Amino acid sequence: MEYLLLKGKQQINGKIKINGAKNAAVAILPAALLTRGTVKIDNLPRITDIDILLKILKSLGATVSSTGERSISIDSSGVNSFRPPQSMVNKFRASYYFMGSLLGRFGQVEIPMPGGCNLGPRPIDQHIKGFTAMGADVELEHGIVKIKARKLKGTHIYLDVVSVGATINIMLAAACAEGKTVIENAAKEPEIVDVANFLNAMGAQVVGPGTDVIKIQGVTELGEAEHTVIPDRIEAGTFMIAAAATRGEVLVEEVIPKHLDAVIAKLKEVGSEIEVGPDWVRVKGNSRLLPTDVKTFPYPGFPTDLQAPMIVLLTQAKGTSFVTENVFEERFNHLSELRKMGAEIKLGGRTAIIEGGHELSGAPIKAMDLRGGAAFIIAGLVSRGETHLAGVEHIDRGYERIEERFKSLGVDIKRIQK
Ligand code: UD1
Repeated sequence: MEYLLLKGKQQINGKIKINGAKNAAVAILPAALLTRGTVKIDNLPRITDIDILLKILKSLGATVSSTGERSISIDSSGVNSFRPPQSMVNKFRASYYFMGSLLGRFGQVEIPMPGGCNLGPRPIDQHIKGFTAMGADVELEHGIVKIKARKLKGTHIYLDVVSVGATINIMLAAACAEGKTVIENAAKEPEIVDVANFLNAMGAQVVGPGTDVIKIQGVTELGEAEHTVIPDRIEAGTFMIAAAATRGEVLVEEVIPKHLDAVIAKLKEVGSEIEVGPDWVRVKGNSRLLPTDVKTFPYPGFPTDLQAPMIVLLTQAKGTSFVTENVFEERFNHLSELRKMGAEIKLGGRTAIIEGGHELSGAPIKAMDLRGGAAFIIAGLVSRGETHLAGVEHIDRGYERIEERFKSLGVDIKRIQK
């Protein structure tokens, strides 16, 4: 058991280089199974979701070698199984990408229902709808999803909900399918574009990623490629919000500022000063924070993954703010812990109503999911007294050595083993 101990009333100041995007990397690694050759991936974040993914790749027969601090090569020529092990798959949500990639490789996959953060119901019906439309049979037996296709065939698929996972999974299955697949009402997240770029580097023919219509002309096989993962806009946004909440000044480097437009807009509304360069964003927190309204939406809307950090920030803005969650309606697990710290937040349906401007006080709290956990660090920093944060394993899934990162910004924070 590990926990984080952090002192309250601390500002973050300095500069920080952003790591590779978790949500792109967790799809790119399974996508590597679509080739029988070797691929090299750079700028991988060193987080536990990636550690587990690499173990799954090895267990399926891939040879994974480290080629640098953040780069690996994956030789998929020896991959001989379409059954990722249950014990590993249960640990994280993005294991669902093995559905698309193993289906594309073997025409068959057997995989337990994915685990991951509890953000309320997270069905995979749109993924299944896509595979079925392409000619696959799908069965659920004792918690194992069994998908099989004699021949995957391209077709038109209209997604009923805008889903990142379903869009990427269908792209993976379609890369080597017969004919053309068209995904309508596709998600537009930058991570989808990154995965499409990786597929295209291997020889796939994906056009339109980043728009709501993606067309994939199937090819007979994919080859070798090198790819660098894009910067993590959610990690960047977390530090930007932390700078605004603690009234510090942080230069966030090695980012694609365009991916942060929604966050930048909201931070300006709360009174932060923002300067944007070609690959950096500087955030200077204002001592008088202003309340605002936030609505989460699929990209380019405000990201649901930054909803919890944004709520913490708004507890510091004098007045009433409204935060509406439109992506995962029940993603409000963090509110109970924030109330323990003195936050005045009511929940009305999918809208959190925050009466901001009251001082929070440090408390023993527990992270219950990845992004909520990161938000609690920000809450600890703005509070009076010490915060003892358990459930660090959730944070480690998506943030690389989070305490080191905050320490580098001048914060007194320790990871303690019990
Ligand atoms: C991905 C991200 C997660 C982010 C989320 C929304 C990864 C590994 N995770 O999750 O960090 O919070 O996008 O930006 O990239 N839905 C269905 N049926 C489906 C699929 C989704 O109803 O088959 C619903 C979900 O319940 C949710 C909405 O669609 O309400 C969006 O979910 P989706 O975009 O699929 O999220 P994930 O891919 O799980």
